Amino acid sequence: MKVLLVGSGGREHALAWKIAGSPVLERLVAAPGSAGMAALCETRPVKADDVAGLVALAREISADLVVVGPETALAAGLADRLLAAGIACFGPTEAAARLESSKAFTKDFCRRHDLPTAAYGVFERADDAAPFLDSLSPPYVIKADGLAAGKGVVIAATRQEADAAILDMLGGRFGASGSRVVIEEFMVGEEASLFALCDGETAVLFGYAQDHKRAYDGDLGPNTGGMGTYSPAPVLTRDLIQQAYDRLIVPTLKGMAAEGCPYRGVLYAGLMLTDQGPKLVEYNARFGDPECQVLMLRLEDDLLPWLDAAARGGLAGRTAPVWRDEAAVCVVLAADGYPDSPVTGGLIRGADQDFGPDTVVFHAGARREADGALLSSGGRVLNVCARGETLAEARERAYAAVAAIDFPGGFHRTDIGWRAL
Ligand code: AMP
Ligand code: GLY
Repeated sequence: MKVLLVGSGGREHALAWKIAGSPVLERLVAAPGSAGMAALCETRPVKADDVAGLVALAREISADLVVVGPETALAAGLADRLLAAGIACFGPTEAAARLESSKAFTKDFCRRHDLPTAAYGVFERADDAAPFLDSLSPPYVIKADGLAAGKGVVIAATRQEADAAILDMLGGRFGASGSRVVIEEFMVGEEASLFALCDGETAVLFGYAQDHKRAYDGDLGPNTGGMGTYSPAPVLTRDLIQQAYDRLIVPTLKGMAAEGCPYRGVLYAGLMLTDQGPKLVEYNARFGDPECQVLMLRLEDDLLPWLDAAARGGLAGRTAPVWRDEAAVCVVLAADGYPDSPVTGGLIRGADQDFGPDTVVFHAGARREADGALLSSGGRVLNVCARGETLAEARERAYAAVAAIDFPGGFHRTDIGWRAL
């Protein structure tokens, strides 16, 4: 198969790493890719949101399949344009990607289909939100409707903070993404990430993980895109996974098809495990980052046939992927100042060494100079991943590699996986 992989982060490096080992792969091109991915496949300087450029590149290389990592291209209609050009795409159409790109759409969808999630209201004017806020007790959950790179959610401890956040969002802080705000009831529980491959009609569970979203140890500090993950996450028992599949994933797939926008790609359910069972926090139209990294370390099966089946409507009859009977941990090395104002250009030494067969370092935001030096170029810089027979062993290996990497301009959490250990 000839494959075009869209994206340049740690998630896409992990996908490239797995796809590169596929026996059915003929050619893999990443756009735009990264220095890390360039060691595994060809890279082309077409940006992940350049829809026309990506379609042209897919044509040029006669791609059999385009695998889309990030949500921005999907929300911009990349899948629609590829399908119109007769090219199979792993990733939903613009209309189906609304499950991620519009929180208001998703909440209304949950209401129409009676899916378990937090009570909510959608507002375009701050005054209109007051009666709904009056009906809630703190903390208040305030969200910008549209895509905001993981920054559009405020958990406000007081009514004053909630009012300020609403004014801030409606006042244009997130541009058009904040022209509507979603206000939600606060759900109490532990969070977990559950993944399902979908082909429009059939959904196959495709792994689960837990992410640490806060920047600092002890789950303190600002929210980030994710500072580290582990899989499996023992908190997601077989029974809870089945409940989430039956009450959320399956009715979502049916509902989307019935509403004329069948969902193809990976459906990522951000779950809150409440006293009343799993409830939906949010859907994403892509693999989690850095959840994908630990899933790829654990996946025994060839990934490509799975992605291809999801893209072409061929999942019926497939049961579950085969996973290695091992745990995996990912520790994110972030640049100082992340998430607010990461300082880039920091020198990284020791990331290229051979850490053994069970440890892999993915590039999330790093670039290579002509002389070979590796420099930070983003907020999340490296994903140090390892697997082991137990979570403890995987974590030990990951942190041993972290200790062997010299990145004075960065920081990481030292407690990834603490909930499970
Ligand atoms: P989201 O971007 O929607 O995943 O929200 C970011 C984070 O805010 C989530 O990972 C949760 O920790 C928290 N959050 C979002 N919605 C709720 C809610 N209704 N109740 C409690 N926490 C929430
Ligand atoms: N790790 C959370 C996300 O990908 O949204």
